[in-house]
Amino acid sequence: MEILIQNIKGLVQVRDASPQWVAGKDMAELPVMENAFLHMKDGKIENFGYMTDMSVISADEVINASGRFVFPSFVDSHTHLVFAASREEEFVYKIKGMSYAEIAARGGGILNSAKKLQQATEDELFERAMVRAQEIIGLGTGAVEIKSGYGLTTRDEIKMLRVAKRIGESSPLKVKTTFLGAHAIPKEYADRNDYIKLIKEEMIPAIAEEGLADYIDAFCEKGFFTPEETEDIMEHGKKFGMKPKIHANQLHISGGVQVGVKTKAISVDHLEAMGEEEVKALQNTDVMPTLLPGAAFFLGTAYPPAREMLNAGLPLALATDYNPGSAPCGSMPLMLSLACIRMKMTPEEAINAATINTAYALELQGEYGSITKGKVANVFITTEMPSYAYMPYAFGSNHVHTTILNGEIINK
Ligand code: NIG
Ligand code: FE
Repeated sequence: MEILIQNIKGLVQVRDASPQWVAGKDMAELPVMENAFLHMKDGKIENFGYMTDMSVISADEVINASGRFVFPSFVDSHTHLVFAASREEEFVYKIKGMSYAEIAARGGGILNSAKKLQQATEDELFERAMVRAQEIIGLGTGAVEIKSGYGLTTRDEIKMLRVAKRIGESSPLKVKTTFLGAHAIPKEYADRNDYIKLIKEEMIPAIAEEGLADYIDAFCEKGFFTPEETEDIMEHGKKFGMKPKIHANQLHISGGVQVGVKTKAISVDHLEAMGEEEVKALQNTDVMPTLLPGAAFFLGTAYPPAREMLNAGLPLALATDYNPGSAPCGSMPLMLSLACIRMKMTPEEAINAATINTAYALELQGEYGSITKGKVANVFITTEMPSYAYMPYAFGSNHVHTTILNGEIINK
């Protein structure tokens, strides 16, 4: 299949050579080519340029994008989109004033999701998760990370990861998987060390044996896993080929950031609770700080201090955290809006964070995250809009008009 998009008002995130990531002041620069064409062939980006320089191209499909922008598909580097059921009852508790930690302590939260997931079959889970996968494709996402962590038994963690893998095989999404057995301690463990032992000695080897996880994660948080436990689990996962990606500093200054740096995590995610020391710890490291503003929005907590981190020269990535408990939303466009409105990131910074930097957070920066020759042809065409900043500005509507993944038109 050969596709030509012509008369593009603005080709966004267009780079001759793709950097690993963009950081600090550089995040304010977003390369956009006006009045452009984009040629895709055999699933890859073949060429792009100004309309005035375009030679004759005989494509199978020619799309006119007058008045519209073309973006590289979003990369959503943090989701829990395999789950059995939504949790609106807790939503109502929250409205009435209960905190996330209080709900979790009463057997709500993650343990509630685990109970429901344990009762669902692999096929049921797959069908429910596929609906969410289709939904995010329609919202502009082309690559996604999916975590386990609602199984909490060896059998059910494996079941979840198999479902996540199947989504990658049965949909056009590029999927990376993360083992999050260390999400919460199940009630039946009187001694938490017994559960941690199970994670290390049974779950990790079994998951590695089946090649089910690219990464390993832990919820490093008061009431969940301590920094010492997190470090121990991360180091063990690394021995089995899983690189760390850590839930850090969501509700408290948890030590998770420092563990991420120490264990050479690909990313540390959440970062609502950050002090100067945490910001400093991330400087001059290869760890991608990843912000999940959907969770702060939904839980009503403080937002991560994005400007402080940018001023310190750090890169930032933006992801949805799509999950039933703290962020029941898989919309990357909405994350752009929250980043701009609530974290004072500019549209340019937010778009860099949601494309090239999230690609780095999944080690996909060589193939995804920018319009660069030879990268995978994952792009979307917007509805007509005056500027690319209209995307985060006009929040709540879907401005994604046509989705192209792996060089094929998915929907228009
Ligand atoms: O990223 N923080 C831990 N895990 C999820 C929430 C999980 C849940 O409440 O079900 C998160 O916010
Ligand atoms: Fe999460």
